[in-house]
Amino acid sequence: MGLLQKILVPFVGLLLAFWFYSGKEDFKPEMLQGKRVIVTGASTGIGEQMAYHLARMGSHILITARTEAKLQKVVTRCLELGAASASYMNGSMEDMGFAQHVVKKAEELWGSLDMLILNHVTAANFRFFNSDIEHVQKILNVNFLSYVAMAVAALPMLKNSEGSIVVVSSLAGKIGFPFVVPYATAKFALDGFFSSLRQELVMQNTNISITLCILGLINTDTAMKATSGVFSSFTAAPKEECALEIIKGGALRQREVYYAYSTVKIPLLFRDWFPELLDYIIRMKYDVGKLKGN
Ligand SMILES: NC(=O)c1ccc[n+]([C@@H]2O[C@H](COP(=O)([O-])OP(=O)(O)OC[C@H]3O[C@@H](n4cnc5c(N)ncnc54)[C@H](OP(=O)(O)O)[C@@H]3O)[C@@H](O)[C@H]2O)c1
Ligand SMILES: *[C@@H]1O[C@H](CO)[C@@H](O)[C@H](O)[C@H]1NC(C)=O
Ligand SMILES: *[C@@H]1O[C@H](CO)[C@@H](O)[C@H](O)[C@H]1NC(C)=O
Repeated sequence: MGLLQKILVPFVGLLLAFWFYSGKEDFKPEMLQGKRVIVTGASTGIGEQMAYHLARMGSHILITARTEAKLQKVVTRCLELGAASASYMNGSMEDMGFAQHVVKKAEELWGSLDMLILNHVTAANFRFFNSDIEHVQKILNVNFLSYVAMAVAALPMLKNSEGSIVVVSSLAGKIGFPFVVPYATAKFALDGFFSSLRQELVMQNTNISITLCILGLINTDTAMKATSGVFSSFTAAPKEECALEIIKGGALRQREVYYAYSTVKIPLLFRDWFPELLDYIIRMKYDVGKLKGN
C-alpha cells in the first residue's frame, strides 16, 4: 500500500501537471483576425452566431444558406460588427454543384482559405423512422455528401494555408437516439469520413486540422420548435456560447469539441462502459405521447 502510494501519487500528479501545462495554447480572438472563413448554414441558429463572433474578431467571412433575405441581414450585421469583409451565396446544399461553387467563390474572393466551417442541416422532423428511403437519401445529400464535396474542393487551398476544417456534429452522431434516424445516420457518417481523413492527412504530412464538434441540445429556434414537449428533461445550452466554443476549438486545432461539456462527455463515457443503461436513460427522457404526426 505504502509503495503503491509512493508510486501512484507522484505518477497521477505528473500526469495532471502534464495535462495542464503540456503547451495547451490559450485561445485569443486575434487568431481569427484577417483569416478567411466559410460558414455554411449561417442564415440563422448557431451558424449565424458564428458569423457574428468571427466578425467581431475581424475575419473575412463568406456565409451560405438558401434564404437570400436572411443572409443579406447577417452580412450587414457582420460588417457593422467589424468583419474585414463579408459576403454570401444563396443556394441549396442538395446540389453538389452549389457546394463546390461556394468554395470556388472563396477562391475568387480571397485566393485562399483558412477555415471551412461546415454547419448546415435540413430541418428534421422528430418522428419514428417511417421507412422513407428517399428521405434518408435527401438528408444524406444535404447533411453529409455536401460536407464531403466542400471539404474535397477546399483541400488544395487549406493545404497551402495550413488551414482547418470544422465539422458541426451532434451527440446523435456518437450515440443512437430515437426519432432522428436519418439525421443520426448522416452525423455518424461525418465522424467516419472526417476522423479517417484526419488520419490520412497526418500520414501524408498535410497540415490541415479537422475538428469534429459534438453538441448537446442548443437553444436555436429550429431545435426548440422540433423538441418542444418531446423531452421531459433536457436543458438547452445557449447558441451564442456554443458558436464561440466551436470557433475556439477550430482555431486551437482540437480534434473534437464537446458542448455543453458535461452534458456531452458523461453520456459518451456511459456509451463505452454501460451502453444498455445509457440507452434506457435516453428512452426515459422522451415523452412519446407528445410526438407530432404519430
Ligand atoms: N440546435 C441543436 O440543438 C443542435 C444539437 C446538436 C447539433 N446541432 C448541429 O448544429 C448545427 C446548426 O444547427 P442549428 O440548430 O443552428 O440549425 P438551424 O438554426 O436550423 O440552421 C440551419 C441552417 O442551415 C441552412 N439550411 C437548411 N437547409 C439547407 C439546405 N438544403 N441547403 C443549404 N442550407 C440549408 C438554414 O438556412 P436556410 O433554411 O435559409 O437554407 C440555416 O442557415 C447543425 O449541424 C446541427 O446538426 C444542433
Ligand atoms: C438566390 O435567391 C434568389 C432570391 O430568392 C433566387 O432568385 C435565386 O434563384 C437564388 N439562387 C440560388 C442559386 O438558389
Ligand atoms: C501546422 O499549422 C499550424 C498553423 O499554421 C502551425 O501552428 C503548426 O506549427 C503546424 N504544424 C506542423 C507540424 O507543421
